[in-house]
Amino acid sequence: MGVISLCAHAVLPSFVAGKYPMRLGASMPKPTSELPVNTVLHGDCRQLLHELPKNSVDLIFADPPYNLQLKGDLWRPNLTHVDAVDDDWDKFKSLQEYDQFTRDWLQGCREVLKDTGTLWVIGSYHNIYRVGSILQDLGYWILNDVVWLKMNPMPNFRGTRFCNAHETMLWVKKSEKQSHYTFNYKSLKASNDDLQMRSDWHIPLCTGDERLKYHGEKAHATQKPEALLYRIMRACSNPGDIILDPFFGTGTTGAVAKRLRRNFIGIEREEHYVQLATERILNVEYPLVPDEMVPAPLDAPKLKIPFALLLEHGLLQMGAVLRLGRTEHFATVQEDATITSNGFRGSIHKVAAQCLNKPSCNGWEHWYYQNPQTGEYLVLDTLREQMRHQVEGVAVTPATEVPKTKKRVKVTK
Ligand SMILES: C[S@@+](CC[C@H](N)C(=O)[O-])C[C@H]1O[C@@H](n2cnc3c(N)ncnc32)[C@H](O)[C@@H]1O
Repeated sequence: MGVISLCAHAVLPSFVAGKYPMRLGASMPKPTSELPVNTVLHGDCRQLLHELPKNSVDLIFADPPYNLQLKGDLWRPNLTHVDAVDDDWDKFKSLQEYDQFTRDWLQGCREVLKDTGTLWVIGSYHNIYRVGSILQDLGYWILNDVVWLKMNPMPNFRGTRFCNAHETMLWVKKSEKQSHYTFNYKSLKASNDDLQMRSDWHIPLCTGDERLKYHGEKAHATQKPEALLYRIMRACSNPGDIILDPFFGTGTTGAVAKRLRRNFIGIEREEHYVQLATERILNVEYPLVPDEMVPAPLDAPKLKIPFALLLEHGLLQMGAVLRLGRTEHFATVQEDATITSNGFRGSIHKVAAQCLNKPSCNGWEHWYYQNPQTGEYLVLDTLREQMRHQVEGVAVTPATEVPKTKKRVKVTK
């Protein structure tokens, strides 16, 4: 196995230092583990995946051989030759051999993927059903099948079938019970004109300057568009995450990872492609944005604020009276940040649940406090948000000014 490292902090003791060491940029978030990050590993992924540390990567994108089984040459009506995928790496003796190959690399990926990670596999009708079935057999759990609708597909020159204008991407988690994985729902929606992102993606084929050339010809038969990887990485990873691509080809995954301040690990069995990918990634302009100018992601989990913090910071006083929505239930805030109502004492959640006779209740959204300046009743969550801003160093909303977006309630005495 050979290795080409694109970043100085890419080290695993058993790997040999590469020919092209390079730092990606001063503000590239660094992974904590000793992984061969920002490196192209040369070899067969079925072996190399077992050499990587278990549970170590955040996201996997795999664009495996499709087993297209193309027979004979294909010509356009104008008698020009169609440059179809007829490479040795796409040839398998039988469907059984292809299935075994698929099982092997998917099993390797499962070992390397973190328990909070997800995996994407792209394929066409030739292989995707077999891949989907093997994924399920191995215990993976399908989250979505996303359709890449090619805006400029190759026509069906013989006119014997529909023009094949899409490919399918299976997005899976490691198991049905996996509860945590990255999905940047809010930022995807914001980037999609505030509409929920759907599973049909209209993206053109990789053409023009983006298409790598070698001696004037296409350098690789199946180079994927960067736009596809851009969307996948934005959806399912965060800056600094480690993204593995076991079928690296021209290094599309690495190029986009660098643009998006992610780390990558590529595996590719053809040395020629290893070289091509390496040159390509070295030429990607790394966005040198100072860390302090990068805002927190929209989907970042909200900071936890315990109720006691409101008292400790004087946003609420001991003895303050809370009212449970429009009901006639009132509670008094105690020194230890419990509240009491009708002889019952507990957290804001427990007391609200007790008053409403429910098994559980979110006290932040049910209790209202009276603004001492205006006399207006405001939902307790307003104070939690104010506290959160204070802790995060964002401009604090004065207690007298209630954010317009917050829920208000008119309570008549
Ligand atoms: C469909 S192409 C990937 C193209 C890539 N996504 C891109 O945008 O350039 C599949 C790649 O996997 C490589 N490959 C095939 N079998 C492999 C194996 N067992 N281990 C590692 N790489 C392999 C092939 O050489 C080929 O470059």
